[in-house]
Amino acid sequence: MFKWKDDFSVNIKSIDEQHQELFRIGNSLYNVVSIKDGIDRYDEIMEALYEMKDYAIYHFDYEEKLMKDNGYSKFLKHKRQHDAFVNKLASIEDKDVDRKQKEVGMELIIFIANWIENHILKTDMEYKKYLNNKGIS
Ligand SMILES: [Fe+2]
Ligand SMILES: [Fe+2]
Repeated sequence: MFKWKDDFSVNIKSIDEQHQELFRIGNSLYNVVSIKDGIDRYDEIMEALYEMKDYAIYHFDYEEKLMKDNGYSKFLKHKRQHDAFVNKLASIEDKDVDRKQKEVGMELIIFIANWIENHILKTDMEYKKYLNNKGIS
């Protein structure tokens, strides 16, 4: 589901590692939702979801500080995308996952995978050259 490729690299080691960690958490979410043994996976799904939200917040804070400290002009627009993603994850009510675990879980994973891929490949890529030129790598 989440596969890292060189196209995702922003040529900043710490950020690439954080993006890879987001992929790792995304994959563990995917794995839990994909198990077809009929066992209640509610706790595991919620755990992976919270892990994703917490790590996304950590990563976004890190990225935002880097952009801000370096006077990146598209900072606010970028931050708004981060905030929307966190709000979306935060808005998923526990009962939704409880009621229809598999559908909600899969829907979520598709949303998360699309969002992360899109955001890294478009929005994060926009700061790559700018920050690289400031000597950040
Ligand atoms: Fe970002
Ligand atoms: Fe990012």
